[in-house]
Amino acid sequence: MDMHPPPKMLASLTITILIMVMATSVALASSDAVVLEGQARALLVWKDSPDNQSQQALRSWGNTSTPCNWRGISCNTGVQQHQHWAVISGISLRGMRLRGALESLNFSALRTLARLDLSNNLLAGSIPPSIEVLGELHALLLQGNQIRGSIPLGLGNLTKLHSLMLHENELSGEIPSQIGNMSSLVTLNLSSNHLVGHIPCQIGHMKHLVALDLSSNDLFGKIPSSIGGLTELTSLYLYSNKLSGQIPRELGYLLNLKDLQLGINALSGSVPRNLHNLTKLTVLILRGNKLSGLIPQKIDYLSNLQYLSLRENILSGSIPNSIGNLTKLTNLYLKSNQLSSQIPRELGYLANLEWLSLRNNSLTGPIPNNLGNLTKLTTLDFGQNQLSGPIP
Ligand SMILES: *[C@@H]1O[C@H](CO)[C@@H](O)[C@H](O)[C@H]1NC(C)=O
Ligand SMILES: *[C@@H]1O[C@H](CO)[C@@H](O)[C@H](O)[C@H]1NC(C)=O
Ligand SMILES: *[C@@H]1O[C@H](CO)[C@@H](O)[C@H](O)[C@H]1NC(C)=O
Ligand SMILES: *[C@@H]1O[C@H](CO)[C@@H](O)[C@H](O)[C@H]1NC(C)=O
Ligand SMILES: *[C@@H]1O[C@H](CO)[C@@H](O)[C@H](O)[C@H]1NC(C)=O
Ligand SMILES: *[C@@H]1O[C@H](CO)[C@@H](O)[C@H](O)[C@H]1NC(C)=O
Ligand SMILES: *[C@@H]1O[C@H](CO)[C@@H](O)[C@H](O)[C@H]1NC(C)=O
Ligand SMILES: *[C@@H]1O[C@H](CO)[C@@H](O)[C@H](O)[C@H]1NC(C)=O
Ligand SMILES: *[C@@H]1O[C@H](CO)[C@@H](O)[C@H](O)[C@H]1NC(C)=O
Ligand SMILES: *[C@@H]1O[C@H](CO)[C@@H](O)[C@H](O)[C@H]1NC(C)=O
Repeated sequence: MDMHPPPKMLASLTITILIMVMATSVALASSDAVVLEGQARALLVWKDSPDNQSQQALRSWGNTSTPCNWRGISCNTGVQQHQHWAVISGISLRGMRLRGALESLNFSALRTLARLDLSNNLLAGSIPPSIEVLGELHALLLQGNQIRGSIPLGLGNLTKLHSLMLHENELSGEIPSQIGNMSSLVTLNLSSNHLVGHIPCQIGHMKHLVALDLSSNDLFGKIPSSIGGLTELTSLYLYSNKLSGQIPRELGYLLNLKDLQLGINALSGSVPRNLHNLTKLTVLILRGNKLSGLIPQKIDYLSNLQYLSLRENILSGSIPNSIGNLTKLTNLYLKSNQLSSQIPRELGYLANLEWLSLRNNSLTGPIPNNLGNLTKLTTLDFGQNQLSGPIP
């Protein structure tokens, strides 16, 4: 084997080294005091835009040679070739009643930001498209403001983002498919906005997602089956939208799910058989849909369930006696379905039950006398059925 690299390769190696040297000198130049002062000035421009109560909160923002000491500002610092350098890496101003808008923040000057937390303030305006230049961003936390407009497509460029929290704002428009390009995302919370349109199937590209919350919007169409590829998910909240079609059986592949909430939509068809594979589930809420068919007999595989709500659907058949194996259940809601036959005695084994609601079904026969064993029950509701015999 020839151990000497061919000349062509040497040439390209030299070019690579040259580029690396150039890149290093650029990094040095961009990390000198001039850059830090430019960043400080960009922040002062933003400080000037809101009302004077906000300016009061930011009164430590002033001397442009020491922005790393300002309230809520953090810096990356280091020493290179006997020179101290610093760049702004974080803005954390949570819950300070700040007014103002993001539009007056010059993101081009703040490319070194890894964390931007302006959550729980009074920010208005929209998220400017220029936010796409924040390529180092790990966390973008803007929840709990009054931010309007749509989610900019350029957010898809923020491929280092781990945490994107935009919930509890006034965002509208569709969820851009480019969101799927944020391949490092671990937490995505867009709940409680006015988002419309379909859930983009590209959401299935974010393989590291652990928590996905799109609840309380106006999303419609089907739940994309690609969500079944998000195997790290532990929480999936899609409740209070206008989603329709069947619950995709691919959700049964999300073996790490602990909390699945799809309530208050227009989902139809039956409960997918393979949901019994989700043995880590502690919360399963499918209430307020148009689900039909039987309650799956194998529901007892979900042995960690504490909260189960299937109320306000059109489920029929009997309550499976296997439910009696779900001994961790504290809340069981089956009201307003079309369940028939007798109440299974096995419900009397659910010793941790605090809430049991069977109202408004077509249940018949006697109420099992062992329900009197359920000493933790605070609410028991059998009304609007065809039950007979004494209440235990
Ligand atoms: C704050 O605003 C009020 C009214 O808008 C004004 O009278 C006051 O001088 C301002 N205070 C400062 C410190 O700018
Ligand atoms: C700003 O801070 C620098 C460094 O601490 C100091 O030398 C300078 O006097 C300060 N300027 C003002 C206007 O306070
Ligand atoms: C924003 O910052 C960049 C980089 O520091 C600068 O070139 C540009 O002029 C600034 N834009 C405005 C509107 O100040
Ligand atoms: C963002 O991504 C798009 C498409 O991949 C690209 O054209 C654009 O240059 C990127 N913007 C930045 C600031 O990197
Ligand atoms: C970003 O997402 C869009 C839409 O899903 C896609 O067309 C584009 O190729 C993606 N860009 C990159 C750089 O991955
Ligand atoms: C999203 O944010 C809301 C409001 O803070 C919170 O209740 C919810 O648990 C979050 N969703 C997830 C999946 O963490
Ligand atoms: C999930 O359930 C189905 C039956 O509904 C079964 O065939 C499949 O093997 C299960 N998958 C896993 C990963 O346990
Ligand atoms: C549920 O309980 C029944 C007896 O009541 C038992 O035969 C069955 O194996 C149990 N299922 C599980 C999954 O433990
Ligand atoms: C009873 O349940 C049916 C669905 O089975 C529903 O349409 C109806 O509104 C419910 N009635 C009451 C009083 O909740
Ligand atoms: C539950 O109730 C039944 C009938 O009332 C009784 O025979 C049984 O011993 C009770 N079981 C427990 C565990 O208390």
